[in-house]
Amino acid sequence: MRERRAWWKESVVYQIYPRSFRDSNGDGIGDLNGITERLDYLKELGVDVIWLSPVYQSPGDDNGYDISNYREIQQEFGTMEDFEHLLSEVHRRGMKLIMDLVVNHTSDEHPWFQESRKSRSNPYRDFYIWKEPVNGGPPNNWASRFRGSAWEYDQATGMYYLHIYSPKQPDLNWENPRVRRAVYDMMEWWGKKGIDGFRMDVISMLSKDPSYPDGEIKDGNPYGDGQPYYTNGPRIHEFLKEMNREVLSKFDWMTVGEGVGVGPKEALAYAGYDSHELNMMFHFEHVELNPGPYGKWNTNRVDLRELKAVLSQWQTQLEGRAWNSLFWENHDYPRAVSRFGDDSPAWREMSAKMLAVCLYMMKGTPYIYQGQELGMTNMHSQNLEDFRDIETFRVYQEMTGRGLVSHEEMMAYINHTGRDNARTPMQWSSARQAGFTEGTPWIGVNANYREINAEDEKMCSNSVLAFYKRLLKLRRSKDVILYGSYRLLLPDSPSLFVYERELDGERALIACNFTSMEQAFALPSGWEANRERLIGNYEGEEKNGILRPYEAIVWRC
Ligand code: NOJ
Repeated sequence: MRERRAWWKESVVYQIYPRSFRDSNGDGIGDLNGITERLDYLKELGVDVIWLSPVYQSPGDDNGYDISNYREIQQEFGTMEDFEHLLSEVHRRGMKLIMDLVVNHTSDEHPWFQESRKSRSNPYRDFYIWKEPVNGGPPNNWASRFRGSAWEYDQATGMYYLHIYSPKQPDLNWENPRVRRAVYDMMEWWGKKGIDGFRMDVISMLSKDPSYPDGEIKDGNPYGDGQPYYTNGPRIHEFLKEMNREVLSKFDWMTVGEGVGVGPKEALAYAGYDSHELNMMFHFEHVELNPGPYGKWNTNRVDLRELKAVLSQWQTQLEGRAWNSLFWENHDYPRAVSRFGDDSPAWREMSAKMLAVCLYMMKGTPYIYQGQELGMTNMHSQNLEDFRDIETFRVYQEMTGRGLVSHEEMMAYINHTGRDNARTPMQWSSARQAGFTEGTPWIGVNANYREINAEDEKMCSNSVLAFYKRLLKLRRSKDVILYGSYRLLLPDSPSLFVYERELDGERALIACNFTSMEQAFALPSGWEANRERLIGNYEGEEKNGILRPYEAIVWRC
């Protein structure tokens, strides 16, 4: 069955983390005018939609994911006029722009929270989740996702408030219809400005289990895991259907929900074609494989068989029923080439291209995170002072403080999975500070910017950037890639990721070698003759019966 076409299914999305993209005024922090300056670069790359990580007013405890005013622009990033200028320049180039919607929580400096904490009877009290102490302590054992308790005691009224993230990010109370109304009004306000949709931060967390049970103690964390009780909660679909009715249905938007705790079955509920909620979900199963005794803090490599199983399950279970989002990287995860490929000089380019083929020839909307198209790598630093992320600092303090791990071990974990790996400045050129800023960047530029940068890659027909351009063009031109069904081949191979796509009798075969060794590869039956090679990351002839290190090829027939 053919899928119904939609612009958001055929678009390529590029995520911008504004602090680190391009600084136009020399204060070391990326800004809106910096983004406007570089729109032609994105257009040439083949981007259709830009997703802007938060640019709203914020004290910056979590780099903008702690919003104190939803209708103002953060001063460091510019003004509302700058935003409007950016939006019109995006539209003038035939691209679209979606904003980050962060409404599971606000900043504690948001006027709603400032009011809420004043007294138990304040009209804004119920905008947040307040609970009485239990046995002189927090209401339950839930851990904050940034470590420590998820509850903060507030002296003024003698109660605790919930903050699943930092104490400066109190959770909104979605049970309160006034909260929901205020959020919908704000969304509509942005809609009237002409934005093209939202990426919805931790949207699966809006509805909490009203009994607030204790969570399981695990991953070396002294606090309990509340995730089963604060994700996919009892009223989540009621809330999102309401949001859809009240706001989303009034606009021709793209909506993508961040699905913490969401598997394919849940995704069908959030984004099934008949669910009337969101267009699609981000899931994290493929980037959270192989956790260690401390959960995400590990140095483990991923087993390719597991990676294939997870990605394939998403492809097949959503087939004809919902739409996938395809991503390797965002501002919360390490660089893909360091994690799933090989970032050594010998194989960085080849493996970065292979990863692009592997994911972006699947069915779903591709998301590219800034710098991924250059093959940017993890930061590789042993000094905690080089890092900036609140999560990194809190986990370092907690895990080394309790003697669970040494400084060296913790730094190895942070280098492998920490969020700052993706937050170093965009590498524009080999000039000072990688051409990101004239000043001192808020976080250091990766030392490899002289070898990896956009200016050099633009000049080279063989670069990762040039390859991304060709790949995205190919994707756009082939309905079998956009809409074809998916079938995994060789599920048990520990080194090859091979799959087929099919639409109305046209077929594509995608074969990727995930190792730095040659691997024997026999073409599946029906592919020996009459195949046409569409793209590959090695120049020249194919090698019969073999995939070379990190080779990736796409054929059609
Ligand atoms: C998910 C965002 O992507 C992350 O950066 C942030 O820290 C949390 N949600 C809290 O908003």
